Amino acid sequence: MYDQVMLIAQITDLHISTPGSVNDRYFRTPEHLARAVTHLNGLTPRPDVVLATGDLVERGEPEEYARLRAILDGLAMPLYVIPGNHDAREPLARTFADRGYLPQDGGFLHYTVEDWPVRLIGLDTHVPGAPGGRLCADRLAWLDARLGEGREQPTVVFMHHPPFVTGMRAMDAMGLEGKAELAAVIGRHPQVERVLCGHVHRPMTRRFAGTVATTCPATAHQLALDLASEPRLAVVMEPPACMLHLWLGPDEGLVSHVSIIGDERPPFTLYDGQRWLRDAVPPSAFHPR
Ligand SMILES: [Fe+2]
Ligand SMILES: [Fe+2]
Repeated sequence: MYDQVMLIAQITDLHISTPGSVNDRYFRTPEHLARAVTHLNGLTPRPDVVLATGDLVERGEPEEYARLRAILDGLAMPLYVIPGNHDAREPLARTFADRGYLPQDGGFLHYTVEDWPVRLIGLDTHVPGAPGGRLCADRLAWLDARLGEGREQPTVVFMHHPPFVTGMRAMDAMGLEGKAELAAVIGRHPQVERVLCGHVHRPMTRRFAGTVATTCPATAHQLALDLASEPRLAVVMEPPACMLHLWLGPDEGLVSHVSIIGDERPPFTLYDGQRWLRDAVPPSAFHPR
């Protein structure tokens, strides 16, 4: 049939803060992140790597990063993090310094991961003090050079701010500067299978520069889908989720799945791998209350 060559999990917008903060009281972000860690560790097959695409914490403070690290240390697989607008480079880099992949020179937190069938390239769209993101000429030149080194390798680029207008106007007001310039770089490198993003706390998909760009739901609070012309913003506790990007090799490609976190809706098995269960009935909790 086909080989499952690599499974890349993605979590985003964890927004860990300090005890008693709004994020703790209203959105329960640490509890939700702990649940996401349990979910990822319990998946079959288990993801090979986890990417965390920014807004790891709320205010970029060292205490928040300490709390974040304590929860993420529960992951059974390697983790790769990049900053979002809520992060701060220096404490973020220090918090994960022992993992060895984050630059510690005070510059941009971008890097490549070469250990897997799919090459991973993390980008840094952070702009200190601003909710929007930017890919400046320096960051784009770095990306162009890295992509030029691996033209034959299937590659995933991951970054916080999506490189497209979303139709949610409040989020578009804090979008990415340098979208067209990024498209010019990516367009020169057809080995880019996907551009994985966060920031918008919802799943979205768009054609981008000859590849596909997606955004991932958050591990805790989602943004209510609002496509009206007023730039409103509301939070909704739709089910938390992560994404699973399954690399099936060069012929079958990269398939992106949304994986809902939480087991309150049990599955009803119709086919158990050997036979169809024609007389099966759904479990009692099959329909939500
Ligand atoms: Fe966020
Ligand atoms: Fe963000």
